[in-house]
Amino acid sequence: MTRKIYCINGPNLNLLGQREPEIYGHETLSDIEVLMAQKAKSFDMSISMFQSNSEGRIIDFLHQARIESDGVILNGGAYTHTSIAIHDALKAVEKPIIEVHLSNPAAREAFRSTNFIAPVVNGSIAGFGSLGYVLALEALNSII
Ligand code: DQA
Repeated sequence: MTRKIYCINGPNLNLLGQREPEIYGHETLSDIEVLMAQKAKSFDMSISMFQSNSEGRIIDFLHQARIESDGVILNGGAYTHTSIAIHDALKAVEKPIIEVHLSNPAAREAFRSTNFIAPVVNGSIAGFGSLGYVLALEALNSII
């Protein structure tokens, strides 16, 4: 059966390709969606892509993923470093979750070393740009 993957992107990621391209790359979220859709097809997976700048919407997407998905890929953006509410919502999902970051937050400002997401996901991929999303799909393919 086709496995259904939710890919959720947090604040400012709608500006991908325009915002700080030297850090986050030139690809847009739509470009990433195309990349993932190709890979997903080869794994017999379907991808639903979501983005919101609001913490509450991200939590709503996670609650939806809890019921409707087989696995989740999450780039929480800056909420990664601040949100206990997203941490709690992730615990409630009870499906495999892979965290993705385009950049490597551990190699950046000290405030990016706090991470409320990493302790409640199956694994984290950071520092590989858009490739990280494809690697996350590969990871999900091997665990679900
Ligand atoms: C990010 C890293 C975060 O620290 C930052 O706030 C972002 C993007 C990344 O994909 O590298 O918005 O999640």
